[in-house]
Amino acid sequence: MTNKKLMQEDLKYIFHPCTQMKDHETIPLIPIKKGEGAYIYDFDGNRYLDCISSWWVNLFGHSNKYINSKIKEQIEQLEHVIFAGFTHEPAIRLAKRLVSITPEPLKKIFFADNGSSAIEIALKMSFQYFKNRGEKRAIFVSLQNSYHGETMGALAVSDTGLYKEVYSDILLKTVQAKSPSLVPEDEALDDMRKVLKKHRGRVASVVIEPLVQCAGSMKMYNPSYIKGLRDICDEEGVFLIADEIAVGFGRTGSMFACEQAGISPDFLCLSKGITGGYMPLSVVLFTDDIYDAFYCDYSEGKSFLDSHSYTGNTLACAVANAVLDIFENEHIIEKNREKIELISELTKPLEALENVKEVRQRGMICAIELQGYDAKQRIGLKIFQEALKEGIYIRPLGDVIYFMPPYVITNDEIRKMIGVVEKILHIV
Ligand SMILES: Cc1ncc(COP(=O)(O)O)c(C=O)c1O
Repeated sequence: MTNKKLMQEDLKYIFHPCTQMKDHETIPLIPIKKGEGAYIYDFDGNRYLDCISSWWVNLFGHSNKYINSKIKEQIEQLEHVIFAGFTHEPAIRLAKRLVSITPEPLKKIFFADNGSSAIEIALKMSFQYFKNRGEKRAIFVSLQNSYHGETMGALAVSDTGLYKEVYSDILLKTVQAKSPSLVPEDEALDDMRKVLKKHRGRVASVVIEPLVQCAGSMKMYNPSYIKGLRDICDEEGVFLIADEIAVGFGRTGSMFACEQAGISPDFLCLSKGITGGYMPLSVVLFTDDIYDAFYCDYSEGKSFLDSHSYTGNTLACAVANAVLDIFENEHIIEKNREKIELISELTKPLEALENVKEVRQRGMICAIELQGYDAKQRIGLKIFQEALKEGIYIRPLGDVIYFMPPYVITNDEIRKMIGVVEKILHIV
């Protein structure tokens, strides 16, 4: 099999995500044969350094030996079982461990199988919590420039026009407050106060992406905003949902981004890195108070009846436990500090280039925003193609190039990743 043959076969049948399929008339689709460590290999013998962790999911490399061994162990035992009326040891163990490493008030967990579904669950639960107490609170508040997924509820609280606009007629009504990634923090907090005051008694929850709005061009803000927002939510009596689907599991330098603000959200949504990029899995953690609002006789009709067929998939839970083993045994958060430092050292000087507007970094996420290009030039696409020729796989967001590599990336690979992009920035 060759890349070309597989690409032709693929294009006969498959509609790919987040893709204008016509682009593939000129841009080759790359069939991947295998993965190893931070690299993926195609069918023509090329290898690419996966600098975006395969859409921000991979933490410990492709085909990681330890994770492979744990998945093999589990598959011989049990692959999956219905999660209503039944349970299994990997889910119980995972729940216990996640509760122990997340902020203290988060005591209970609900399983799902992808990030968007976790957001739907947090939104629905926050709405139903109030409904169960006789209050109708049908408004959700999020931040400008936010992204929370593609299902209808998640899209409704998102603010990235590119993905949302076309569906605006059929989405839930939500309100977006100013984002601290776009305006000064005080202004953003003031705006949130105003929004919550205006809709007082009708807002169920506020949902944010702590510290980094990833799909929103990797825009970043400070932990102090989250602290301020926590106080405002408490004053107004609305829930705070932290969407750590992209930033959880060490991405921002701490295990969870909220830790840097020293607060606990009422709901914490996790996915992506939870299985190190192996299996679809997501969880929502919440407080005992929220759990209790649904706990009553069945006939009272206050149960949370959300379900997904693959909820709490056994293999996915076993893999997530393996991922937590690696965090614990290999002191990943401490080890990443040197890599974070190196990325910073190598990218900061790029700000001196004429076509670079800003370099920003939060932990293992680093973005280089370009300037001086017309949107029609599709500069990000051009840079992606040039980098690919050098064995570097990046996927710029418009004119924002970013790195979000797996934690197994070596210092030499970090130098190569940034060196290649630097070289390209001099010629485009
Ligand atoms: C912050 C955030 N929330 C939610 C999602 C949606 O997750 P999924 O793609 O698994 O549905 C994403 C995906 O990129 C995300 O970055």
